[in-house]
Amino acid sequence: MKKQQVGIIGMAVMGKNLALNISDHGFSIAIYNRTYEVSVTVAQENPGRDLYVAKTIKEFIESLELPRRMIIMVKAGQPVDDMISQLTPFLDQGDLIIDAGNSYYKDTIRREKELKQLSFRFMGTGVSGGEEGARHGPAIMPGGSIDSYNLIKDVLVAISAVAEGEPCTAYMGPDGAGHYVKMVHNGIEYADMQLISEAYHILKHIGGFSNAQLAATFTTWNQGVLDSYLIQITAEIFSEKDDLSEGDLIDMIKDTAGQKGTGIWTSKESMDLGVDASIITAAVNARFISAYDTERKAASRVLVGVDTEVLTTDKGIFAEQVKNALYASKIASYAQGFSLLEAAAVVNGWQLDYQSIAKIFRGGCIIRAKFLNRIAAAYQKDPTLKNLLLDPYFTQTLAEIQKDWRSVISSAVLNGIPVSAFSSALSYYDSYRSEKLPTNLVQAQRDYFGAHTYKRTDREGSYHHLFSGVAHE
Ligand code: 6PG
Repeated sequence: MKKQQVGIIGMAVMGKNLALNISDHGFSIAIYNRTYEVSVTVAQENPGRDLYVAKTIKEFIESLELPRRMIIMVKAGQPVDDMISQLTPFLDQGDLIIDAGNSYYKDTIRREKELKQLSFRFMGTGVSGGEEGARHGPAIMPGGSIDSYNLIKDVLVAISAVAEGEPCTAYMGPDGAGHYVKMVHNGIEYADMQLISEAYHILKHIGGFSNAQLAATFTTWNQGVLDSYLIQITAEIFSEKDDLSEGDLIDMIKDTAGQKGTGIWTSKESMDLGVDASIITAAVNARFISAYDTERKAASRVLVGVDTEVLTTDKGIFAEQVKNALYASKIASYAQGFSLLEAAAVVNGWQLDYQSIAKIFRGGCIIRAKFLNRIAAAYQKDPTLKNLLLDPYFTQTLAEIQKDWRSVISSAVLNGIPVSAFSSALSYYDSYRSEKLPTNLVQAQRDYFGAHTYKRTDREGSYHHLFSGVAHE
């Protein structure tokens, strides 16, 4: 029997589209789904392809050429472990399993270790771009051993998006590196989305922008420094009419945001590594508080705020200021995301290539943006850059637009508009550039009540002070 080149397990939206993408690029494929009929439908809907529909796992494995290359696209968590246990009894040494779902990187590290002991290969690979990306070119973040990567590189390069002539995939590093980078991508995605939503809130309530004006503003923004997928779809969203009633769709959508967990992972991870990722955390919190809709409704009748004053000045000038505030916040957010990657690289012994990460984020994925060229350039110039804010382009840009950043945030605060992501971004900038912070007082308090000691500005060593001449413990 003729053997297929690549196997794909899981025929839900992402798996199916990835399979078709792989097939488009001339690879023969075998597909497997827990419910066989789903695979049959995929094959029926896509005739004329070199596609083998396997009814059982055994059939699936037997249909593949050696060493086998199998991509799993199932729900993250236990389903991945369950699928691996179903596969392993039939595998040969050196076969490669690629988990392309949004798995937690620590699970990926564990799985790779376990499978290595059985002489199988395993890769954790981040895939971004949703349904459309999977079908026509996602950004792909593969992690695992380099020889595993070399086994599948041809497929990944062929199916990934292309940005400025370069494939949006590159080897990220061993074990969990690929899933880690994907997790941080999602954290940044959360921050981007929240920042854009705050800009919308400000433009709508302080600027008095209609949906049509918002659509026009975001369309203009998409032609400048903010040029990105999320800004583009935002412009389209504001133009969308509702299909179930009169009026615009955006006004009919409930404000309770869902989340599947990757933003929370990123935020928790930043806490574990002691990295300030406050903008991502603010974005996660914003989704939490959005979900307390009944409580918010009740509180809105009790808690006093201020009346929002709609601007009477030029809308164009205001939009420009908000754009600058959004761009500055976005720069701070990516600085945090890349700082988290840098800290994770040290802890996990990965050699992450930040220039290459910025480059693969330029196409296919949800955070794709022109501005990533600036980040790639910053890391090309200085691969050991401590913080993106210190790159001369970003330093200069922030110096130029910070006035608008401060003024937009101040006006939001004065008008009672919540801007937790915008203000976290500005506070991050102001903290990072502060030679002195008020944390000398925190140290004094810690020493006062817990004898935790403090360090001095004028000499080395740790000191404990007897406050008012007595120990207060
Ligand atoms: C991507 C997306 C994808 C998914 C998000 C949605 O890169 O293609 O990030 O992974 O759409 O995980 O996440 P939430 O449901 O948590 O918003």
